[in-house]
Amino acid sequence: MARLLIEGRYPLQGRLEASGAKNAALPIIAACLLTREQVVLDRVPTIADVWVMADILREMGVQVEFNGNGTMVLDASDLATTTPPEDLVRRMNASFDVAGPLLAHHGEAQVSLPGGCKLGPRPVNLHLDAFRRLGAQVTSEHGFVKAKASRLRGAHILFPKVTVGATKNAMMAATLAEGVTVLENCAQEPEIVDLANFLVKMGARIEGQGSPKIRIEGVQELHGARHAIISDRIEGGTYLLAAAVTQGDITLEEFEPWLVESLLENLTKAGQKVTVLGNTIRVRGTHPIRPLEIATAPFPGFPTDLHPPIVAMLALADGTSVLQETIFEGRFMYAMEMVRLGADLRVSDRNVVIRGVPRLTAAPVDAPDIRAGGALVLAGLAAEGETVISGVEYIDRGYQNLEDRLRHLGARVRRVEEPLKQIVG
Ligand code: UD1
Repeated sequence: MARLLIEGRYPLQGRLEASGAKNAALPIIAACLLTREQVVLDRVPTIADVWVMADILREMGVQVEFNGNGTMVLDASDLATTTPPEDLVRRMNASFDVAGPLLAHHGEAQVSLPGGCKLGPRPVNLHLDAFRRLGAQVTSEHGFVKAKASRLRGAHILFPKVTVGATKNAMMAATLAEGVTVLENCAQEPEIVDLANFLVKMGARIEGQGSPKIRIEGVQELHGARHAIISDRIEGGTYLLAAAVTQGDITLEEFEPWLVESLLENLTKAGQKVTVLGNTIRVRGTHPIRPLEIATAPFPGFPTDLHPPIVAMLALADGTSVLQETIFEGRFMYAMEMVRLGADLRVSDRNVVIRGVPRLTAAPVDAPDIRAGGALVLAGLAAEGETVISGVEYIDRGYQNLEDRLRHLGARVRRVEEPLKQIVG
């Protein structure tokens, strides 16, 4: 089991190029199932979730190659099955992205329920309702979803709540449906826009992506396409916060500022120096960090995935902050661990009250999920002494080359594979 050792209190400084977004890459990779032609993707992040999606597709008979420098080539012309491997599907929620393309292009999908995770139950009922509205027969039994339709039919679908997952699956399914589909109360996340833009390159007719109403005119078939993945706003946001927690000076390049407007607003309110110039963002960490009141919300609101990382900053603020989590009830798993580093956090119901402390101190901590892992790395970078983070497999799911990128910015961080006893004993 790997662990990260971080010696804190070194200000991070330098320039960093943004990575491609995990949450855009995963559905776009899955969308190769919508065509028999070759798909080429650039700027695919080298993270564990991408390897899992690649393995799922390989086991289904898709040819998958990585050509170095983040380019991925996919060819689903010889698909062998519409049942992706259960053990891999259960490893991440986004594996359910294959359901819509399989159903639309191959007339059926038998996909294991991705299951709950530490963020909460993660149901897929709204994905299934959308498939049913598009004319599919759908059952969910014994942990498997089975969906079938000789050809889907366009429909009007009003999502009862904003969901990224169901918006992606419904949009992908509708591209090959007969007639027009109108999706309302859609997720407006940039990753949905990137997926839609990719589908349009494949020949799909989609309008309104990035707004609550998406209109899709079904086509007979989709063709191959080449596409570069949009920047990862959560990874990028985590590095910008690293400048704040270490009083450093980080410039993120090749990164579209509209992706993180709500974060930049909050960083500015917190007294941090933010400069935006074209597609670069510079954050200079400044003390004191002013406290904030934040509620997470679907895009363009403050992203739930940046909730734990911004708490790492607010833990060091000069005053008391409150953060309300409105998307995932299980988002607070990081709190107990951050308290071990000296943070003063009180969680009740869906709120965390953060009383700023002047300093954090190193301790062994365990990352319970991807973004909690990002937050613990930030706290470790700020803490006095050497923080040992286990649960690195979660961090590897969402942060590409984390140690290299941190070291490039001047952090003292290393990865060790030995058991904990040998490290701290
Ligand atoms: C995606 C992101 C995740 C991000 C989240 C919210 C990926 C791979 N993951 O997750 O990083 O934190 O969006 O921005 O892109 N819900 C239902 N029924 C459903 C589907 C969702 O009740 O069928 C609920 C969920 O439990 C949650 C809320 O809707 O409370 C939002 O979920 P959703 O937006 O679908 O998140 P994901 O796509 O799972």
